[in-house]
Amino acid sequence: MTPHIEAEKGSIAKTVLMPGDPLRAKVLADTYLKDAKLVNTVRNIYAYTGFYKGKEITVMASGMGMPSIGIYSYELFKFYDVDNIIRIGTAGSYQENIKLYDIILAQDSFSESTYAKVQGGEERNILSSNTNLNNIIIDTSKEMGIDIKVGRLHSSDVFYTEVPGVPKKALEQGCLACEMESFALFHNANILGKKATCLITISDNLVTHEAASAEERQNAFSKMLELALEASLKM
Ligand code: HPA
Repeated sequence: MTPHIEAEKGSIAKTVLMPGDPLRAKVLADTYLKDAKLVNTVRNIYAYTGFYKGKEITVMASGMGMPSIGIYSYELFKFYDVDNIIRIGTAGSYQENIKLYDIILAQDSFSESTYAKVQGGEERNILSSNTNLNNIIIDTSKEMGIDIKVGRLHSSDVFYTEVPGVPKKALEQGCLACEMESFALFHNANILGKKATCLITISDNLVTHEAASAEERQNAFSKMLELALEASLKM
């Protein structure tokens, strides 16, 4: 037990898939995991541990934003001996040619957030995901015939900004899309000697202002989820 997770030690798998939304964690467990057990309900941050094709996997929500994923990923890595966390989320596209439902694997994340600096004195504002996990995901995507792009995400602390559109600094850094969690996740993996990466589906486009309907979003999310589950068999 930790301040935010009531699960027994040993009831969380070595590989954790992490959507932001607790209900998505439930749908994922109901749809894909065999013998799934609900192992955390603290603050409704549901975690389910079950089996995918015989391999034990945990699906646990992160909540929204770096403070939230920062807490849960730290506790999972440090106190539950989790080795791998794959965030599976949505992001807003910063590029006209990165369309709704495109899937991006985060090579790294740029952020103005002070999370990493305050947590551990980290001075860099671009942090990489784990190459080993990324290679597994890239190979698996080819085997499954799923097209993914690999690139840089902008991890932002702010969803509603006074200046609308794409922030200049993120464009200068070559960011493809915006989400709010990966930078803190990658930092925690770095300081604790663990592995993390992030897959996202584009749910809206900040240039063209297209946005996915709830149903379309769910369908696109399923493809990314299946990729993450298949890749996790090799981790
Ligand atoms: N900004 C930040 N996070 C997001 C967005 C966005 O536009 N879309 C989905 N997650």
